[in-house]
Amino acid sequence: MSTLDEKAKEASTEAVDEVETVLPPKEKKQDNGPWGYIILFFIIGFAASLVIGWGIFPKLLYSQKKQPIDFNHVIHVEAVEEGCESCHFFREDGSFSGVPKLVQCVDCHEEVMGEDPNEVKFVEEYVAKGQEVPWLVYSKQPDCVFFSHIAHVKMGKIECDTCHGHIGESTHSRVYEENRFTGYSRDIWGKNIAGLKKNTWDRMKMDDCAECHAENKAVPKTVERLPWPISWMPRPYEKPTSSQVRTQIDKDACFVCHK
Ligand code: HEC
Ligand code: HEC
Ligand code: HEC
Ligand code: HEC
Ligand code: HEC
Repeated sequence: MSTLDEKAKEASTEAVDEVETVLPPKEKKQDNGPWGYIILFFIIGFAASLVIGWGIFPKLLYSQKKQPIDFNHVIHVEAVEEGCESCHFFREDGSFSGVPKLVQCVDCHEEVMGEDPNEVKFVEEYVAKGQEVPWLVYSKQPDCVFFSHIAHVKMGKIECDTCHGHIGESTHSRVYEENRFTGYSRDIWGKNIAGLKKNTWDRMKMDDCAECHAENKAVPKTVERLPWPISWMPRPYEKPTSSQVRTQIDKDACFVCHK
């Protein structure tokens, strides 16, 4: 972004230099001199860099994938008896069911019941063939990360929305965006390309997990101030306060969240 800005500015001032030398001095009828051009080119350059940085770059960075079936949460939360838990529940051993499997749908969708083309597609292509729907998981973390729903939902009493946003109230599945370089879902690194965060669910990087843990003193304190040579290490629990950054001394600390 910043280098694009600089380039755009360079380009606009170069362009202005040229304009100045081309213009014969006598023809300067108006007395606003080169400033009009400088401002004009600055605005054009600035606008172009904004378009590239905020519009085109994210489009190039993320590839978009549609969910195999467009799923309507609103109809379903009404149709089922126990709300979210009818489909997203905890098993007896405490593990989380995650995205529902076909068995949870067939009671109602054994046969096509309405006229919705999505339902027809769902029944014909998946239910009839006994084939699971390959849902894309927006919140998917890399394989090295350990996350347990029961610790957060039951013990931590945190609402689904805090981490996922209002997916439970949506009438359509949104597109899944995958970072072309890292393979991460866009929900992890953030909707905003500059990493700004308005809502708790806008981003779920290592620092975001750690920030909430620090606020809630959720996981035993495992950070200590350490001298500089190891300051490059990630600081999962607390933000650095000075050039002496904080890092972990407990060797096992990383394995709270990493397998
Ligand atoms: C009839 C079953 C059903 C019910 C009831 C239901 N869901 Fe879902 N949910 C699904 C299916 C199927 C998906 C996968 C498709 C999708 O992501 O749109 C899903 C996906 C999700 C996801 C996306 C996870 C991710 O990161 O990809 C969240 C969050 C979620 N549901 C929350 C909720 C909440 C909150 C409720 C209650 C208000 C709820 N669901 C009720 C079936 C259900
Ligand atoms: C309690 C019964 C019930 C269960 C369980 C259920 N559905 Fe539905 N589903 C409905 C009803 C009712 C409709 C609305 C039918 C209509 O009018 O077209 C519907 C509509 C749909 C539609 C078309 C509307 C849309 O979402 O775009 C799809 C697709 C669908 N269901 C998929 C699923 C999947 C996948 C599951 C399993 C995770 C599931 N359903 C579980 C009752 C259910
Ligand atoms: C503290 C944050 C947090 C809360 C609260 C939370 N989730 Fe999640 N959820 C996550 C993370 C992180 C993942 C990705 C886990 C992974 O990839 O290992 C996830 C994954 C999921 C998935 C996809 C799982 C899969 O792999 O099939 C569903 C569905 C889901 N959550 C639904 C819910 C529902 C419903 C609730 C509320 C009852 C909820 N979550 C509460 C953070 C949270
Ligand atoms: C909104 C706040 C919040 C966010 C975001 C959050 N956590 Fe937590 N986490 C908690 C709380 C609160 C607990 C302690 C729950 C308890 O034991 O009472 C916890 C506990 C844990 C534990 C310990 C579970 C156990 O078995 O004792 C792990 C592991 C964990 N979180 C991983 C993660 C990861 C990975 C992420 C990011 C993907 C994350 N958390 C995001 C609040 C959060
Ligand atoms: C609070 C939970 C948590 C703790 C504690 C934690 N991590 Fe992470 N870490 C994550 C999550 C979530 C991700 C994936 C999202 C991201 O890249 O920010 C991640 C990603 C990473 C990655 C990048 C992996 C990849 O495939 O891209 C590295 C490397 C890493 N962590 C190292 C560490 C080290 C070293 C420690 C101990 C000093 C540590 N982490 C402690 C949650 C945690």
